[in-house]
Amino acid sequence: MEIPSKLIQALRTARSVAVLTGAGISKESGIPTFREAQTGLWARYEPTELATPEAFNENPELVWQWYTWRRGLIQATEPNPGHYALARLEAQVPQFTLITQNVDGFHKIAGSENILELHGNIFRTKCSVEHTVIKSWDESQGDEPPRCPNCGEYLRPDVVWFCEGLPQDVLAAAIRAAQSAEIFLSIGTSAVVHPAASIPVYALESGAVLIEINPAPTHLTPYATYVLAGPSGEILPALVAAAWPESG
Ligand code: OAD
Repeated sequence: MEIPSKLIQALRTARSVAVLTGAGISKESGIPTFREAQTGLWARYEPTELATPEAFNENPELVWQWYTWRRGLIQATEPNPGHYALARLEAQVPQFTLITQNVDGFHKIAGSENILELHGNIFRTKCSVEHTVIKSWDESQGDEPPRCPNCGEYLRPDVVWFCEGLPQDVLAAAIRAAQSAEIFLSIGTSAVVHPAASIPVYALESGAVLIEINPAPTHLTPYATYVLAGPSGEILPALVAAAWPESG
């Protein structure tokens, strides 16, 4: 794909860059996105129906098992060239913030540092009642979900479910990063789940150049300054190499 030279120049000289990633960036690692037809073991369940407090209240075992399966999927694979390219981009830009909706932890493994996890992290566990993060519990009971060692209630993944609020400090930091960004990249997100989907709008309102990287159009596409239509695992390495040929 031909990357516009004006875009390369803008990236090279930008002092502040913010990025929002969604499930699409992990697609090339083999992790299914949320809004595509699912295959395999969990094909008959909609992820958007399992990732809810109601689903957990009704069938905590099913939801826990789904997360156990998803953790296994993630652990069996690794970050892809898109994740690594973002870590190289961070090293080039004075002020860089990586905002992610993903819970897979791949950005950190790939070497990104200034990461805001809007929807939590699937490898962290918390008490479903007290919401304290719990690092270890008694596996010998064989409970699914396991029980909180402090209060005996169920444990759950420390992720944000539908209808739940985002961590306010993380969201505020993401909005600040968007508002101060000269360049904002929206990568691999369908831009339908709010408030995450509003973050690029803050960047736009503050005059940022908006770049979208996605093989399919989204609600954001008409507002993007540049649309790089294709898989992020190919486009991001090409973009960073075009701006900093020596970085590769
Ligand atoms: P979605 O599944 O809604 O969207 C994935 C996006 O990735 C789509 O726009 C695809 O076109 C795009 N995509 C597919 N393959 C790609 C590739 N190789 N490179 C780049 N993009 C690609 O996922 P999200 O937008 O992340 O929230 O979903 C947002 C939130 O909805 C999730 O964080 C989760 C979900 O419900 C919660 O659980 C709260």
